[in-house]
Formats: sequence, structure tokens, C-alpha cells
Amino acid sequence: MLFLSSLILSILSSLVVADSVTPESLAAQFSLSTSTSLPFPAATQASSDTVQSLTAWGLSKNRLQNGNDNIAFVDDPFPNSPAPGSTTNSSGPVLQVTYPAGSYSNGTGGAQFVNLWNSTQSGGFQSMLLSYEVAFDAGFNWVQGGKLPGLRGGADPTGCSGGEEADGIQCFSSRLMWRPNGEGEVYAYIPDSNNLCKDKNIICNSDFGDSISRGSFTLSAGQWNHVTLLVQMNNPPDTANGNIELYFNNVQALAQQNLQIRSASNLSINGLFFSTFFGGSDPSWATPDEQHTYFRNMQLWGGNTPSTLSGNKVSSGSRAVGSISVLAASLAVFALAW
Ligand SMILES: *[C@@H]1O[C@H](CO)[C@@H](O)[C@H](O)[C@H]1NC(C)=O
Ligand SMILES: *[C@@H]1O[C@H](CO)[C@@H](O)[C@H](O)[C@H]1NC(C)=O
Ligand SMILES: *[C@@H]1O[C@H](CO)[C@@H](O)[C@H](O)[C@H]1NC(C)=O
Ligand SMILES: *[C@@H]1O[C@H](CO)[C@@H](O)[C@H](O)[C@H]1NC(C)=O
Repeated sequence: MLFLSSLILSILSSLVVADSVTPESLAAQFSLSTSTSLPFPAATQASSDTVQSLTAWGLSKNRLQNGNDNIAFVDDPFPNSPAPGSTTNSSGPVLQVTYPAGSYSNGTGGAQFVNLWNSTQSGGFQSMLLSYEVAFDAGFNWVQGGKLPGLRGGADPTGCSGGEEADGIQCFSSRLMWRPNGEGEVYAYIPDSNNLCKDKNIICNSDFGDSISRGSFTLSAGQWNHVTLLVQMNNPPDTANGNIELYFNNVQALAQQNLQIRSASNLSINGLFFSTFFGGSDPSWATPDEQHTYFRNMQLWGGNTPSTLSGNKVSSGSRAVGSISVLAASLAVFALAW
């Protein structure tokens, strides 16, 4: 009897559909009272005009960091394939990014630019929400993985990406990555305080980027996917209560809440970090053929309240996983296997 009722309960709970959360409701929940929609043109544009249009989004140094030839506003390739749960079908051009055959990181394919939406906010934003839709060519070859746009902050526009370690003072970044088979994650350059690399949801990579909750959502090719990224700065700066959340097709996919994103209070959030390429920084990440992604409905919400979650004081900034704990972990695995 007890067994039957718990069986029925577990069947019932597996049928419960996860709550759908719109970016608007998240913005309200986190008191993000300022918002903007990045303007898209009414007609398609070749690369040179697209560069001009994007510059009007308020870019660091008034230019793209790379990829001028790899971007164009094109007709929506998937006008009748909205993201699951979406209430809008497309109208108007979308931003296409080209990854030439053989390209991977280091400016050889894709595109990158830093948007400074923070110029509308004196003192800088303490919390920000980014929402956009992304589509991949039908039959997209994911290879080993690649970067997707996210958020960043800090005076150094080239730090905290491309293998430049985050020090908590100059910058941070929080992008997305796709991995083999379209598995998704958040990819952050932040200090690895309080043994963050030992957290079960974190993989610390050799290029200093941290993978958060790899595989917690799965991107689909040949249709639109909707992602919404929240970053709340830790506060005070010596407390690891920073919060990063990711919603996929309006359902929460990950929430990582023990983060030290900054160690100085003057590091705030600038805006969109548009960064997408295959890689990875060696040819094993390269796309064998020319491929494309598409972006539309890019929106930002900002606020001046950092995280108010509880968190531990920062005790160590060590990134290295100690050899003793690795030994202990392997012994534990060995014992379990036994
Ligand atoms: C989007 O287009 C598809 C195909 O035309 C249609 O089935 C669907 O109902 C549309 N969705 C919305 C929200 O209008
Ligand atoms: C990256 O690109 C720059 C400029 O094109 C080049 O000087 C540098 O050698 C490249 N680095 C790698 C690792 O390919
Ligand atoms: C914060 O202040 C420190 C010390 O003055 C400075 O080195 C750093 O560049 C500042 N950080 C930002 C993001 O402006
Ligand atoms: C926006 O960020 C840039 C780069 O960190 C910085 O130089 C600038 O002062 C910030 N603006 C505001 C209003 O905080």
C-alpha cells in the first residue's frame, strides 16, 4: 500500500511541467527596472552596413573586436520554427554569424564585440538580465563546442576571455557555450574562490574559464532557442554570494549561487558581450565546413541592487585542485567501484 502510493506520487510528480518564467517576470523579480532592446534593421544588410548598425549598439572603442566580414542581417531562415514556449514568430531580419571552414578561436571565425550599455547607469549596473533567441543551421555540426554571447564587465575589454585569467578587479565574463550534441552550459571567467573548482556543478578549464552545469540544457539545430542569463554581483566584494542563473526556453536550467565574481566594488556589469566562435584555441575545435548561427530579439534589463543572498566570506582564491584531495577522491571512487 505504502509502496503503491509512493509509486503513484512519483509518477505524478514526473508529469508536473516545470514552471515557465518569462524574462519580463524575472526582471520584475530581481528589481531590474531599466531595459533596452538592441535595434535590428527593417531590411537585410550586407556585412559593411551591418558593422555600422551594430556600432549604434554602443560598442567599446566604437568597433567590433573581430568578425566584420562574418556578420550580416539576413532573412530569418526559420520563420515558422519558434523556440518551444515562445509566443512570437519572426518578423524582419536576424543577425547571421558565419564560421568559415577551418575556423576556431583567435579571430579566425565568428564575431566578437563589447556593448557598453552601462553608460546609461551612473556607478554601473549591479545586476543584469540578457535575453535572446539563437538558431543553428539545420544539421549543425557541433564539433567540440563553441562560445555564445553573454554578459561582461570591467575596464579591460580584452581581459577575462581568451585565456586571460580573471582577477576579480579588472573584469569578469559570463558567456554560454555549446558542447558536443548541443549540450549547453554557462562559461564564466571569474575568480575561483573558496574551492569553487571542487563544486560538483563546476568544471575548471585550463584556459581559466569555468564551465557551470554542463549539459543542463540542450540546444536544438534548425529552429529557434530562447536563452535568458541573469548575473547578480556578489556583495560585499569579499563574500561569495554572486548569482548566475540560466533559463532555457523559459525554464530554469541552472542556478549557481556561491560565486565571487568580483573582489572590488568598482567592478560592475557593462552589458552584452557578443562573442561567438568555434573553440577552444587549437585546430581540434575547428569547424570542417562553413556554418552559421542566427540571433534575434536581444534584450537587456539592469538594476543597481547586487545579490542579497547569504554567502561565505572568501577564504582562499586557490584554483588548483590539491593533489591530496584528488588522491582522496580517486580512493573514494575506487572504494565505491568495489
Ligand atoms: C508560428 O508559425 C508556425 C508555423 O507557421 C505555427 O504553427 C505557429 O502556430 C506559429 N506560432 C505563433 C506563436 O504564432
Ligand atoms: C592569434 O592571431 C594573432 C593575429 O592574427 C596572431 O598573431 C597569433 O599568433 C594567433 N595566435 C594563435 C595561438 O594562433
Ligand atoms: C577598480 O579600482 C582599482 C583600483 O583603483 C583599479 O585598478 C581597477 O581598474 C578598477 N576596476 C574597474 C573595473 O574600473
Ligand atoms: C562603463 O564601463 C566602462 C568600462 O568598464 C567604464 O570605463 C565606464 O566608466 C563605465 N560607465 C559607467 C557609467 O559606469
